[in-house]
Amino acid sequence: VPAGLDAVVTIDPTRKTRFNRMIFGQFLEHFHRQVYGGAFEPGSPLSDRAGFRLDVVQALRELRIPIVRWPGGCFVSAYHWMDGVGPKRTPAFNKPWGVEDPNTFGTDEFVQWCRLIGCEPYICTNAGTGGFEEMSNWVEYCNLREQGSFSRLRRANGHPNPFDVRYWSIGNENYFPTEIGSKTTAEWGMLVRESAKLMRAVDSKLILLAAATVDSEWTAPLLKVAGGFLNYISIHGYWDALWEQGTKPASYMQCMMRSRQPEGQIEKAIKVIADNGFAGKIKIAFDEWNLRSWHHPGFPGGGADRVDLIGMRDENDQNATYTMADALFSASFLNGCLRHADVVEMACMAPVINVRGPLFVHPKGVVKRTTFHVMQMYSDLLQPHVVATHIAAAPLASDGASVPQIDAITTVSDDGGKMAIAIINRHPTQGARLRIAGVGGRQGRLDILDGDSPDAFNDVARPSRVTPRQITADVSKGTVMVTPHSLSILSLTI
Ligand code: AHR
Repeated sequence: VPAGLDAVVTIDPTRKTRFNRMIFGQFLEHFHRQVYGGAFEPGSPLSDRAGFRLDVVQALRELRIPIVRWPGGCFVSAYHWMDGVGPKRTPAFNKPWGVEDPNTFGTDEFVQWCRLIGCEPYICTNAGTGGFEEMSNWVEYCNLREQGSFSRLRRANGHPNPFDVRYWSIGNENYFPTEIGSKTTAEWGMLVRESAKLMRAVDSKLILLAAATVDSEWTAPLLKVAGGFLNYISIHGYWDALWEQGTKPASYMQCMMRSRQPEGQIEKAIKVIADNGFAGKIKIAFDEWNLRSWHHPGFPGGGADRVDLIGMRDENDQNATYTMADALFSASFLNGCLRHADVVEMACMAPVINVRGPLFVHPKGVVKRTTFHVMQMYSDLLQPHVVATHIAAAPLASDGASVPQIDAITTVSDDGGKMAIAIINRHPTQGARLRIAGVGGRQGRLDILDGDSPDAFNDVARPSRVTPRQITADVSKGTVMVTPHSLSILSLTI
């Protein structure tokens, strides 16, 4: 990097890929206060007559979310969808999470909620304690117009038209021997294949995913037996290992040092797919991702200890832990997906509401956390095609690890006349000057998310401490300045 500069960005507009907006997807699980006390709160003055929180709906509409995955997560590995449809709901004790679910929010409500927020519904099935017939009956309930007892049940429940749910995943993390509903590698391929056959026998147009890892030990046997039936593999990642170990949330710099790890996972997944002969045929859905680890207060054997260790009543609700580190980690994740847009065609931030999600919901309103603004900036400001972007940047080092201080990804419009470059400056205290080859002589606009500190966060008391702002960017000399600990989207007319 030449003296006086912190990074040089070189763009190759000839290498261009239209990316799939489903990488801006989200996840809603029956876990903590995501559904009850989050999306759904009958009786709240903020809810409609059906019980949907309208302030939540309005905020999520602003994100223009393309797809939401539901109902789990681990929750689904012992969930029976029939408990959650029709006028008489059966509360059930959910064994993975050790809490009773009232089942008042089920398939009908999920589909209705997706319509309210304007997204595609994506259902993850019970491949744990459930079987392929239960999965296929669920498809029948949702998608079959007239024939079949489950389609008749849907109509009797007041839904004459099929829900037309296109995206279905077989299972959730069934590769973890400690999770309820785990399977062996040999069992998994067979179960996925037979489930896919039975589900497609009801609706041949389904788009199918299956729980997978980025390692060949689990995923090679899966692809060998069932690869021909799959459109995507579903992979997951959480990176704040310190929190997972029950100590404390990782610091800003620890988070930055982890911020390239998701892309490493993506590259491994691409390799597993290619090594097994499915390059170009099977795509990646990173359908649970987040920096922060998770904690369910009701988690059997885990709750009390975790609360004591962290010294908080409920760590998930501590808005102070979701800072600019989360924002820049999330932007790094999205840049990683965009760089591999030919294979990564879906990603679901986990979760969308409460826990460590972008929208914090409380009885009197909502707080848009830092990551909410990142998701909105990417959703609104990027152009539809990613172009190859090379970055030479100074390193940022901490505790023996190192990442480039700057990351950037370039997008262009269909006709190439508009460009938007998402630039991340990971440095906690120093701004950066970038040269962007080929953009000289122009005026642009910078949308900036930085906050007053790397540890800045939004909370009920100060909901707008971190919000995006806009300035005019003078790129006439081919360089641009970005602020410390920031995400900046530079928009230009070419
Ligand atoms: O989101 C909490 C849990 O994290 C999900 O249920 C599971 O899929 C993942 O391990």
